[in-house]
Amino acid sequence: MAQHGDSNTASGTAVKVSRAPESPGTGVVQSDIPQNPGFPPHNPRMTDLDPNKEKRAERQVAILFFLSIIGSIFALAAYIAYPIIPGDFGSIRTNNLLLGLGITLGLLGIGLGAVHWAKQLMREDESVELRHGTRGTPETREKAVEVFELGNAESGFGRRTLIRNSMIGALVLTPVPAIALFRDLAPMADPVKLLQHTMWKKGTRLTHDPTGIPIKASDVTLGSAFHVIPEGLLQRTDMLEQKAKAAVLLMRLLPQDLHVTKGRETWNYNGIIAYSKICTHVGCPVALYEQDTHHLLCPCHQSQFDITHEAKVIFGPARRPLPQLPITVDSEGYLVAQSDFHEPVGPDFWERET
Ligand code: FES
Repeated sequence: MAQHGDSNTASGTAVKVSRAPESPGTGVVQSDIPQNPGFPPHNPRMTDLDPNKEKRAERQVAILFFLSIIGSIFALAAYIAYPIIPGDFGSIRTNNLLLGLGITLGLLGIGLGAVHWAKQLMREDESVELRHGTRGTPETREKAVEVFELGNAESGFGRRTLIRNSMIGALVLTPVPAIALFRDLAPMADPVKLLQHTMWKKGTRLTHDPTGIPIKASDVTLGSAFHVIPEGLLQRTDMLEQKAKAAVLLMRLLPQDLHVTKGRETWNYNGIIAYSKICTHVGCPVALYEQDTHHLLCPCHQSQFDITHEAKVIFGPARRPLPQLPITVDSEGYLVAQSDFHEPVGPDFWERET
């Protein structure tokens, strides 16, 4: 059976409140019920009493929103005028500093403007709405519209066009530097083309990683494995980006141990084979070679590739074999590439066809 007791609402009106029957452990000691202190009395602000001060506060709010606009435009202009030059740490510092200053001003202007507006110009009255069903009655909904219109009238959102428009301008421009920043995460060139090709091409010598010393076919003994980079890689300014795609593992097996499919008969040189070192799962370097089983192992998620069967996946989450680099030797006996890989290296990506 429900009991009834008195309780004060936030607005100070006494209403009847239903209570569940008290039981051991859940009963509430009546004297512990916190009393609602209500709202403090309203003290008129200077802007409530003096129209000049109200006007001045309005201008201050607009100035803060305009500062936000200037900050956002400044960030965008700085991003374009002071680009990051690869390898130049001074340009990175300048770009980040100016971009950060612009974005800070953009966000600070909006924040301070909104707070100043609320504190100085918006009505301070607080209202309490008692809980009710999720969907209100028609009267309640009418009331909601009324409250909305009242809020609009009190905040001056519709009337104070200077503030409203400057705030909208500030809000629209604030995300613009973020768009530029996110675009900067991708390279300027078409990323699909960049991912489809490496710097290997016909005649590029295979060299030791990291020394860059060319490798002769006679250096590659049975059972050995070499970490390989293309000749000329060390001289490139985008060395790391290129190495992330072009790194290769070189091994030698007995030619009769290789199971070669049609069209690939000439891709190895007397049992010397070269495979991409970039795992086709998520791109870790496949750096472990097990000489007895002829397996390559990726240490990240344990994918295993069988190099006697063109690096097909025999275990783990990788879905494709490691791409093979067709190789041969030049007139001096150095190992060279016959071409680039015949398919993109590394994990899947959008617009990949093979
Ligand atoms: S990256 Fe090689 S198995 Fe996951």
